[in-house]
Amino acid sequence: MRSIRLGDEAPNFVAISTEGEINFHNWLGNSWGILFSHPADYTPVCTTELGTVAKSKSEFDKRNVKVLALSEDDLESHRGWIKDINETQNTIVNFPIIADEDRKVAELYDMIHPNADDKMTVRSVFVVDPEKKVRLMITYPASTGRNFEEILRVIDSLQLTDYHKVATPANWHQGEDCVIVPSVPEEQLAENFPKGYTEIKSYLRITPQPNL
Ligand code: BEZ
Repeated sequence: MRSIRLGDEAPNFVAISTEGEINFHNWLGNSWGILFSHPADYTPVCTTELGTVAKSKSEFDKRNVKVLALSEDDLESHRGWIKDINETQNTIVNFPIIADEDRKVAELYDMIHPNADDKMTVRSVFVVDPEKKVRLMITYPASTGRNFEEILRVIDSLQLTDYHKVATPANWHQGEDCVIVPSVPEEQLAENFPKGYTEIKSYLRITPQPNL
């Protein structure tokens, strides 16, 4: 099986989760989605990650992004662990966690990297757009908790490109200037970027963030 690449259709699957059976594509509907794997339940880094995502849920909602976590432990284990996450992270887990006991989803998405660990999934992140295309893939090692602000930042960038024809420069954050994508021809700049633009080079055209 060839590994997943950016722009590929996100492989569909049906899986059991803490919020019932999920058909991934149907569950996504017209939303964006983030699918992210965890090495195991009742582990410290994962506990902080799931708490952080629960607290950031409104940020994902704002961007029309559904959140779906995965680990290979069973539903009973997930349910017990959720109680611990809620207690220790001062939150309420508000998104489904897949119980991928047979590793079907983990294998489909190549989340097990045997030379790192042949039993547990690594910390994979997939962002999928409403057309079900894979738009972002990041892989972290088990020992490093993910930076979900970075994941939200990339989603903002992807949505700016899709909806406003701009890309984002290095280390960009919300509110900062963007770059106009090369496919916008010179003669459409004034119409497409009413806030104005600066042409530093013909290929380097800066404009204020369009959607503010
Ligand atoms: C953790 O989530 O804390 C963790 C899991 C596997 C290896 C190291 C840390």
